[in-house]
Amino acid sequence: MKIIVTKDYESMSDAAFAVLSAVVKAKPTAVLGLATGTTPLGLYARMAEDHRKNHTSYAGVRTVNLDEYVGLGPESDQSYVYFMRENLFKHIGIPQENTNIANGKAADLEAECTRYNALLAALQQDIQVLGIGSNGHIAFNEPGTPFGAETHVVRLAESTIRDNARLFAREEDVPRSALTMGLKNIMHARRVLILANGANKAKAVKGLVEGPVTEQLPASVLQLHPDCTLVVDEAAASLLAR
Ligand code: F6R
Repeated sequence: MKIIVTKDYESMSDAAFAVLSAVVKAKPTAVLGLATGTTPLGLYARMAEDHRKNHTSYAGVRTVNLDEYVGLGPESDQSYVYFMRENLFKHIGIPQENTNIANGKAADLEAECTRYNALLAALQQDIQVLGIGSNGHIAFNEPGTPFGAETHVVRLAESTIRDNARLFAREEDVPRSALTMGLKNIMHARRVLILANGANKAKAVKGLVEGPVTEQLPASVLQLHPDCTLVVDEAAASLLAR
């Protein structure tokens, strides 16, 4: 794993943007695997600014997102489809039909997982952007998820519900389940870019880099990926033996 330690969140976002924009410049039809959450917001702001100033084209880019809450759709400002539209897609001129997020409102969630798996098989990510949960989850693959899992419906861990409650009016409003890419779908990406910032991620980052490869810390599977880059700020890197 290649590790880039940066001073703070802003320099983490600069480094992440350098990696991602190089992929898009080299391959204007790249497939980008994208994440929601607070961590990639700085990266997305830089992509938007670069599109505005330098007219970098996303017309041929396709995207696949990691996950979506069950029961939430584009009309809900807590849904990930809404998050991606507001924080990235509408700022970079990407055709809406080139963007893919599992449908949290699908009547048949199992059929939706099957559909999304088939889509991912056809659209291999040139690069997959990831954040990491304080419990070591990636996407919504909570501790204990088999490494062989593909897109599936997951019941969120209590710690994830607590972590994400800050984005909802009340903790009770956080959906209890989600659709998520599995670890196998993530490992299928040609390249992985995982970002982490803040002291509350330090323990998970240590497990990701130095811990045993274990389903108890899902991100540790990335030690087995042939092309994984971790960009981490000093606070999140503070427990690493360096
Ligand atoms: C988001 C996702 C999650 C987040 C993780 C960190 O699509 O799949 O795994 O990356 O929960 O969230 P933040 O960035 O809000 O700390």
